[in-house]
Amino acid sequence: MLDGKKILLIISGGIAAYKTLDLIRILRKENAHVTCVLTKGGAQFVTPLSVAALSENQVYDDLWSLTDETQMGHIRLSREHDLIIIAPGSAHMMAKMAHGLADDLASTLLLASDKPIMIAPAMNSVMWRHKATRANVDTLLERGIVSVGPNEGNLACGENGIGRMSEPNEIISAIKKFFANKPLEGLHALVTAGPTYEPLDPVRFIGNRSSGKQGYAIAHALLEAGAQVTLVSGPTRENPVDGANMVYVETALEMLAACEKILPVDICICSAAVSDWRAKKANNQKIKKTSDNEPPTLSFVENPDILKTISNHKNKRPDLVVGFAAETENIESYARSKLERKGCNWIMANLVGKNRNGKEKAFGSDENQIYFFTHADKNPEPWEHMSKKHIAHRLVAKITEHFKN
Ligand code: CTP
Repeated sequence: MLDGKKILLIISGGIAAYKTLDLIRILRKENAHVTCVLTKGGAQFVTPLSVAALSENQVYDDLWSLTDETQMGHIRLSREHDLIIIAPGSAHMMAKMAHGLADDLASTLLLASDKPIMIAPAMNSVMWRHKATRANVDTLLERGIVSVGPNEGNLACGENGIGRMSEPNEIISAIKKFFANKPLEGLHALVTAGPTYEPLDPVRFIGNRSSGKQGYAIAHALLEAGAQVTLVSGPTRENPVDGANMVYVETALEMLAACEKILPVDICICSAAVSDWRAKKANNQKIKKTSDNEPPTLSFVENPDILKTISNHKNKRPDLVVGFAAETENIESYARSKLERKGCNWIMANLVGKNRNGKEKAFGSDENQIYFFTHADKNPEPWEHMSKKHIAHRLVAKITEHFKN
């Protein structure tokens, strides 16, 4: 399972570093390609020579190395691997990661990396239980970093408690589980997200209330499942999705052109709230108030339907195309007719507009309620009210099932 996998192993300062030597040996035995970075602390416990000999590779330890950095060594190291493992992960290393510090090679490449990260913490049990470490661990887990251990038992400091680094075999099992859990590996997914802005003049546009949160959550979930992801996004306040190919657009025409450029893909999820119309001709200059104060008359033309275009693509139709339906009423009949009219495989329908308490039901909210429509099932599957992240994972589970079949 680890054959050919490219692993970057960061060895930070801790007595457990001696176990990391064995971890390198097993990884090599499993045919993984191992590149090691030694921190200053790590080098107090194991020597670059033993690490180089076991990994059969150059060992990196200097952010200021002229030879390595002429080729932007830290950026290369941060991008060229399938997984980054930190073992042992010292309390200090975790604190630096949680706070985004970059004062040596290891912390700088971690900050510059868009790759999955796994950490095997190792420290004294009081340090592990300290509020500062707890907060740092929570932050790292929230960011999706995978933690292995620590275990309970005798510690090098003579105390007994939690803080022992996991054994090399346990770390190997976690690595194998990590790589096994990629059901969408090898598939390319295209996701559209956010609103489109259709200009009326250089300062005004027609837009909508879409936040892009659902599409961004879907991109994250697809990446976690191992898919290659291209996210074509209208203007939103969301942070770029690490690991996705981000394509930013403003108008529906730009969004369609960007999507067509990405095809062919295996999966396409159109979650963008594309403006149905654009101004027939956007004014080159700002539209001024007329002397008689008559409001201007605007003429519109229809925008292309991206979902429909991709669903009916002659030779590049993705295997699976999923659309959304944002409705304010008659959700069942409208969503069903969209499924037929647009030719996609599934529709995720939801109600939009304001609740009785004046809060938005879906747009901008962190939660939503989905009705899941397919051609095969007469009735939609109502999903319980849940977070958009949870909806994204539920959808990815459906996609995984689809490709299994
Ligand atoms: N969609 C699209 N391109 C458009 C309009 C919509 O790709 N020009 C996609 C959306 O991304 C969504 C689905 O079509 O996946 C349905 O969007 P929605 O706004 O609910 O429906 P409309 O097609 O705009 O129909 P209506 O305005 O009548 O509800």
